[in-house]
Amino acid sequence: MRIRKVFSGFLATIVMSLMVQTAFAADNTSTQSRTLIICFSQPEEMKPDAMDGFSGASVLQKNTLETGSTQYVAQLLQKRTQGDLYRIETTTPYPRQHDALLRAAEKEQETKARPSLKTPLPDLSRYDTIYVGYPIWWYTMPMVIYGLFEQNDFADKTVIPFTTHGGSRLADSLREIARRQPKAKLITRVLSISRDDISHPDVPAQVEQWVKHIQPQR
Ligand SMILES: Cc1cc2nc3c(=O)[nH]c(=O)nc-3n(C[C@H](O)[C@H](O)[C@H](O)COP(=O)(O)O)c2cc1C
Repeated sequence: MRIRKVFSGFLATIVMSLMVQTAFAADNTSTQSRTLIICFSQPEEMKPDAMDGFSGASVLQKNTLETGSTQYVAQLLQKRTQGDLYRIETTTPYPRQHDALLRAAEKEQETKARPSLKTPLPDLSRYDTIYVGYPIWWYTMPMVIYGLFEQNDFADKTVIPFTTHGGSRLADSLREIARRQPKAKLITRVLSISRDDISHPDVPAQVEQWVKHIQPQR
């Protein structure tokens, strides 16, 4: 009789602890998957003899030649937030040579192009916080980011832009996003890092500080 009592108590403890663990796991999954980081970034081939106003500084030499500046910030954010990371790639790839890239981006802007995505965007309904990072191209956001905000619904989502740039900081991008997604909760305390500072050892701490600071805004 006593043995049976002890055994059923033991069994109950195991069942309880299993239930708690499952609840924890479910909770972890839900919080982790609620944050998405979307980034567009275009690493360039470094050509030291071809420098000009917007020269090839998008190549982050400290990391790898494949990592663009915005992508680097996105990776830091991913580590910090444990969110999902989606990097935008277009069906037609961009040139990696600086001058050709400048011309391609200029043409896209003139024609108001909306480049298509190589892989579909994740299902946005799974997320409530969405970071969106992009470089400034010709004093505004790249056309693919215009497309992102025109073709998807960010209503009621917390949208947190971040940029890298060569001096224009955010340019007009906050206004352009707000115009296209008036129902999004747009965070206006934007992280904007100059490509000249991107290799600075302080950048990870800067990202960390920024994430902490925007919490009360949300
Ligand atoms: C096509 C093109 C246009 C650019 N136009 C601007 C600009 O108008 N203002 C600015 O501050 N930086 C400009 N830049 C510099 C980029 O914003 C900067 O190098 C950025 O960090 C690149 O990010 P990525 O490596 O993630 O692509 C331009 C760069 C390119 C390639």
